[in-house]
This record gives sequence, C-alpha cells and structure tokens, in this order.
Amino acid sequence: MADVTIIGTGNMARGLATRALAGRKTVQLLAHDDKAKADALAAELGGHVTPGVVGDEISGAIVIPAVYYDPAKDVVAKYGNALDGKVYVDITNPVDTSTYEGLSVPDGSSAAEELQKSTGARVVKAFNTTFAGTLVAGDVAGQQLDVLIAGDDEDAVRAVADFASAGGLRPIVVGPQRRARQLEQAGFLHILLSANDQLPEFQWNSALKVVPAGS
Ligand SMILES: NC(=O)c1ccc[n+]([C@@H]2O[C@H](COP(=O)([O-])OP(=O)(O)OC[C@H]3O[C@@H](n4cnc5c(N)ncnc54)[C@H](OP(=O)(O)O)[C@@H]3O)[C@@H](O)[C@H]2O)c1
Repeated sequence: MADVTIIGTGNMARGLATRALAGRKTVQLLAHDDKAKADALAAELGGHVTPGVVGDEISGAIVIPAVYYDPAKDVVAKYGNALDGKVYVDITNPVDTSTYEGLSVPDGSSAAEELQKSTGARVVKAFNTTFAGTLVAGDVAGQQLDVLIAGDDEDAVRAVADFASAGGLRPIVVGPQRRARQLEQAGFLHILLSANDQLPEFQWNSALKVVPAGS
C-alpha cells in the first residue's frame, strides 16, 4: 500500500511526488508504458517511491494521474472499476491547443465533471493552478503555494487538502466539483500569462495566490 499513486513521469509527476515525499507520504509511481522512466524518477526522488507501470494494481487511496486530459480519459477507461471509491485528483488544464482560445470541454462543464461521468472514483479538482517547477521548489519567492480545490465528496476533498498541507502547501477549498470550471479557466489564464513574452516575470515559475485581508 502507498499513500498516493501518481501516474506519469513528467513535470507534474516530479512536482507532486516531491511534495508527497516532503509530507512523508509513500508514493507509487506508474509510468505510461516504460517502467524504466518510473525507475529513473524514483531514483532521482529518493524516499519511499515504488515504481511501476500503468496496468499495475493501484495501491494508493489517492490517485493523481499527472497526464494530459485525453490520456486521463484513457487511464479512467483502462482502470475501470478498480478506481471505484478512490480519491481521484484531476490536475488537468484541458486547453484547446489547436487554437489556444479556450478549453476543449463542453460549455458549462469541466474536465473534472466530464471525467466523473465515466468513473466511480471521487473526482476532486486540484493542483491545476500550481506550476510543476513551483511544486518542486515548494514556494515562490518565499510565499507558500495555494492549492485551489473543488469537489463534491467531503471526505475526498479533505484527503486532498490534508495531502497538500502535509507537503507544505496551503489548501483552499473553493466549493463543489462544478467550481472546477472556474479553476480550469484560472489555470488557462495562468498559462497565457506565462506564455506572454511581454510578461517575462511570469514565465512558468509564478504562482496564483489569494492573499487574505490583514495578512
Ligand atoms: N506542467 C505544469 O506546470 C502543469 C501545471 C498544472 C497542471 N498541469 C497539468 O498536468 C498534466 C501533466 O502535465 P505535465 O507538464 O506533467 O506533462 P508531461 O511532462 O508531458 O508529462 C505527461 C506524462 O503523461 C504520460 N502519459 C502520456 N499518455 C499517457 C497515457 N495514455 N497513460 C498514462 N500516462 C500517459 C507521459 O508518459 P510518456 O512520456 O512516457 O508517454 C508523461 O509521463 C496536464 O494535464 C497539464 O495540463 C501541468
């Protein structure tokens, strides 16, 4: 058993696994189809990381597919009922990369809600507004990272918030799963800011943060 299963071995897998280990969690790390990639990232990370490949039994109560939206649909289809009851963290920003004018999900929905239609897992939106490099670092300019969270299942939302807190981050529960629509637009905005050459200070190493009054 691991505390968390992370699927993928890319940028966000590295960032999320780094935070998990900082929070003294055990990690199962499943590569797409080449176990050597999970072995390599596990060796780089150190700590309690069990490498494997997609198709292995999922041992974490929390599952984080650190993959793009279309592969996330594949993961959901591949694992089917094995995801039932799991806390599924949807980190995707489903940007329509053919135009970069919007998202590739239906109006009035979100990737989180679309994924929820095909799984018995409890889908929680989180981490789509934190860039991978900032998760590795754990802060931006000495400021704690905010993790904006949306979900319908109270226990699942609490589990994700606890996971973020353990890793030194500040969880903010913004509301029910449908608030993922706003979080995905916020993530898209953050991507646009980072991709804007006129704003070099924001390039992929900035953070979206809500500063409380009186702080
Ligand atoms: N990068 C960021 O700062 C950031 C921030 C917030 C949210 N996000 C979201 O996080 C997700 C991952 O982004 P990333 O930057 O980490 O991407 P990435 O570095 O390209 O990593 C993507 C991972 O997905 C794996 N993969 C591809 N197809 C798969 C499949 N069918 N089944 C299982 N795994 C598959 C890839 O494995 P192979 O390479 O071996 O195929 C790779 O390890 C995206 O949804 C993105 O929108 C990213």
